[in-house]
Amino acid sequence: MNDHSIQIRDVDFNNEVELHELAYLYAAVPLDWDASYAVQREAEINFSWLLEKRDTLKCLLATLGSKIVGIHVLQTQSQRPHTCFIKTLWVSPDFRGEGIGSRLKAAGEQWVRETGSKAMVTHVMVKNSKMLEINRSKGFVPTKVEMEKKL
Ligand SMILES: CC(C)(COP(=O)(O)OP(=O)(O)OC[C@H]1O[C@@H](n2cnc3c(N)ncnc32)[C@H](O)[C@@H]1OP(=O)(O)O)[C@@H](O)C(=O)NCCC(=O)NCCS
Repeated sequence: MNDHSIQIRDVDFNNEVELHELAYLYAAVPLDWDASYAVQREAEINFSWLLEKRDTLKCLLATLGSKIVGIHVLQTQSQRPHTCFIKTLWVSPDFRGEGIGSRLKAAGEQWVRETGSKAMVTHVMVKNSKMLEINRSKGFVPTKVEMEKKL
């Protein structure tokens, strides 16, 4: 795959088809590590939250022609004005390992810097060793652990 044909760009908030696809991909990301995760049917996906929160969001797409092959969504936080939250990062399985995730993360971090924020925060599943490793390699350190007890 020619990496140069992959474009990293903002979602077009005037394009409802694109917003719908972004919202669907966003909703389905947890399926990557939890096969039992319940995802709404594509037809039922509501993208209005993207428009409502538009002023706080950075919605990056990796595209190959008209196909979305990666997404990265970040958000400013009113409660923590100097910290942005990384809501999701996902690359289509057929396109992984080609640097697209890194390109999306670099563009996301650039935006965080432009907001004047001093930090960025994300949640990662402990079993997602790949994402933990990627984040560590890019300067993230663990700060909080969610604990669960099976009943
Ligand atoms: C995590 C994910 C976005 C990475 O996307 P990608 O395009 O494959 O990532 P890249 O090709 O840019 O690789 C990023 C880095 O990870 C490294 N890497 C690739 N595969 C790896 C693996 N299996 N284990 C550890 N590191 C790996 C690469 O060498 C690269 O390191 P570098 O920046 O030092 O060169 C993609 O695997 C994905 O969508 N996973 C499912 C969704 C997910 O887990 N999202 C994160 C939720 S918190």
